[in-house]
Amino acid sequence: MNCTVEPTAEPHFESLHRALDIVAREKKYLALTQAPPLAKSIDFYRGVISSDFPHFVALDGDRVVGWCDVSPVFGHSRQHVGVLGIALVPEARGLGLGTRLLQAAIGKSWERGLTRIELSVRADNAPARMLYERLGFEHEGLLRRAVRIDGAYLDCHAMALLRQPEQALD
Ligand SMILES: CC(C)(COP(=O)(O)OP(=O)(O)OC[C@H]1O[C@@H](n2cnc3c(N)ncnc32)[C@H](O)[C@@H]1OP(=O)(O)O)[C@@H](O)C(=O)NCCC(=O)NCCS
Repeated sequence: MNCTVEPTAEPHFESLHRALDIVAREKKYLALTQAPPLAKSIDFYRGVISSDFPHFVALDGDRVVGWCDVSPVFGHSRQHVGVLGIALVPEARGLGLGTRLLQAAIGKSWERGLTRIELSVRADNAPARMLYERLGFEHEGLLRRAVRIDGAYLDCHAMALLRQPEQALD
């Protein structure tokens, strides 16, 4: 698979939504267990992009095989913060694409003026935790019973990456 990583744009939306549905239905990684209606996903993608927050896709030809976004948080005192989401369809994992997507999203976050990227990751998701740690995210605590899937509770780790002073662009 010879993929490119590109900023997300309107022509990617339907394929991105299909990729979201595939990963959500695995029930192992995301808060969703299936994609929302397409129109709702499109509203979300447009909202992230129009506020100049990071949204990147990994493309295999025209097909979206993964994405990474950093979305805004509600509240005047939280405007320096973005919440990270990342995922690849199963056949695109373990090829270095997650690293490329995450690096692109981090770079754009700092360029955008954010100074904190936060996320939560299920305690049983070792590959994602290792990727975040490799790129400098630090653990901030355990969120107990943060998700419930098919009646079973699971803990999540709260993690965050702070922009270092030398990365400040202003
Ligand atoms: C997590 C995810 C985005 C990582 O992307 P990826 O392209 O598979 O990861 P990369 O190939 O860039 O690998 C980066 C690092 O991740 C870790 N990693 C990736 N796959 C791994 C695996 N199967 N087991 C353990 N660590 C793994 C390693 O630290 C790896 O570094 P290394 O190559 O030096 O060993 C991807 O596996 C995925 O989409 N998983 C399902 C969705 C998900 O978990 N999203 C995050 C929810 S919080």
